[in-house]
Amino acid sequence: MTIHVGLIGLGTVGQGLLTLLDRNKDYIQNKLGEAIQVDQILVRNLEKKRDNLPKNVLLTDSFNDFTKNSNLDIIIEVAGGIHPAKEWLQWALENGRSVVTANKDLIASHGSELIALAKQEKVGLAYEAAVAGGIPIIANLTDYYATDQIHSLAGIVNGTTNYMLSQMSQKGWDYEQALTKAQELGFAEADPKNDVEGIDAAYKAIILARLVFGLDLSLADFPIEGITAVHPTDLATVEQLNGKIKLIFAINQTQNGVSVSVRPHFLHQDNLLASVENENNAILINSQSLNNSLLFGPGAGALPTAQAVLADVLTTAERRFYPALPRQGEWQFQHETTQSHLF
Ligand code: HSE
Repeated sequence: MTIHVGLIGLGTVGQGLLTLLDRNKDYIQNKLGEAIQVDQILVRNLEKKRDNLPKNVLLTDSFNDFTKNSNLDIIIEVAGGIHPAKEWLQWALENGRSVVTANKDLIASHGSELIALAKQEKVGLAYEAAVAGGIPIIANLTDYYATDQIHSLAGIVNGTTNYMLSQMSQKGWDYEQALTKAQELGFAEADPKNDVEGIDAAYKAIILARLVFGLDLSLADFPIEGITAVHPTDLATVEQLNGKIKLIFAINQTQNGVSVSVRPHFLHQDNLLASVENENNAILINSQSLNNSLLFGPGAGALPTAQAVLADVLTTAERRFYPALPRQGEWQFQHETTQSHLF
């Protein structure tokens, strides 16, 4: 038996996934008792030279052609962007295919709708890779923390800006130099505007706020500020004060509701988040049973993100589908941002 997969997108993450599927093929065969085979890949540009494609794979730039294969069990989407990814994934779910996606823009903007569709169609919709690739945050929040009452979350969920701030501070690079290198290393989005303006981190905060507090937020609902105004001299000044500037998301529950924000913060060097450098991400969680806990790992790049996609593919292939469901609760959104006690 074989699990048939259709892959949408063959950029940094898509290629990382092919590498990991190949590297783990014996493990997958042993674990599932069947192989995972990538039958077809939808790409934007057929002309681009590509090595190491799976045997007999159909490479196409036409979604119509992509839909003709009725054998597909799982659609993996790592193309990014909201449209046409939304329409592609709707087609997949409506046609009984489980979906694994790394697309935070889409899950943040239309996650509630897609989760409802997946539930209705009784198929999987997994999106671990959409938030902090190398940190299994969705699985942890859905499973491990399910019986704990989470009060607040805060941390670093954009690898590009954390890498840039680290390089600007440690090596004295200027903003453009740091951004170019982050792009070369495959951390940044195709259009890095979302990274540097805090939008990418905000999308991730929306996904986490939905998952933990059942809130359905959009970008217009809370304050978002990126790192475009951070100058190397600011970083040097802050270093002299034994501190760091970090782009921090905060989701904070108070008696009046749950507030969300994304903005640069000054952190003293003793703060756990201050020691998170380069493309690493870290998420601090304050909860009733655990008090404070910290999850740390690389947040961007081919293999960390592909690892999250592959973990979701295996879970889905084992028919342990879940759209990671938002918690049911009575939480209200609070427009006014409150100070997090986590950082
Ligand atoms: N551009 C994103 C980042 C990629 O830098 O974190 C991973 O979501």
